Amino acid sequence: MSNAAAPAPERPDRSDVPAHVAIIMDGNGRWAAARGLPRAEGHRRGVEALRRVVRASHELGIRYLTIFSFSSENWSRPASEIGDLFGLLRRFIRNDLASLHRDGVKVRIIGERDGLEGDICALLNEAEELTRDNTRLTLVVAFNYGSRQEIAKAAQKLAREVADGKRDPETIDADALGAHLDAPDIPDPDLIIRTSGEQRLSNFLMWQAAYSELVFVPLHWPDFDKAALESAIAEFARRERRFGGLVAKSAS
Ligand code: FPP
Repeated sequence: MSNAAAPAPERPDRSDVPAHVAIIMDGNGRWAAARGLPRAEGHRRGVEALRRVVRASHELGIRYLTIFSFSSENWSRPASEIGDLFGLLRRFIRNDLASLHRDGVKVRIIGERDGLEGDICALLNEAEELTRDNTRLTLVVAFNYGSRQEIAKAAQKLAREVADGKRDPETIDADALGAHLDAPDIPDPDLIIRTSGEQRLSNFLMWQAAYSELVFVPLHWPDFDKAALESAIAEFARRERRFGGLVAKSAS
């Protein structure tokens, strides 16, 4: 069969590439179920998709890539699935950290580390430490992360500063709260992609998403690839961003 009639993948103009892309990697379970495979296989293939997308991100010139890899609400899943997801994170860091470092990727972790097993915390710290001076792409891994929890924690820190006499309550504004979130130095996402057709944020970066463009993709996460990322970026480039004003402008 000839490929002549296949539509060319949409290639974004480099100037349209968003600085920060965040992804809700949804649909691993449905991908596996559709093939009669265990959910764990869907997650394993999800890690392969993640490797592809990290590579594609630095090829395309994306500066920050945030991925939702384990949510605060994922604890309600069966213990065996939680074990699978933690096992994949361990393996991802052990197997991929050296090549991420070689490729100039800086790893940052957001989310709650209290209560995580010691070896997981050690791996997360090692990934951040080893890659701290890299500058090509920042990969932000949201692990044991929930946006409401992150905002509540920021409010707690501000309240403590007030209680300790270090802050006047009148100085608490959006900038002050934003500065107490998990990664205040990282710009807000320009584009948030969710795979598998669901159209919601599910407690992901709700503060930071105030002016993000949202793109929902029907593919399940294990099928997501560079062409799908390019299509999402092309859709982003067609949007008019006004940030509450009247004239379209860019975030920077
Ligand atoms: C959603 O699929 C995906 C997750 C809950 C976790 C995403 C995790 C990975 C891609 C692999 C682990 C990541 C790292 C960094 C090692 P789902 O299970 O909710 O799918 P479903 O909605 O079809 O059931």
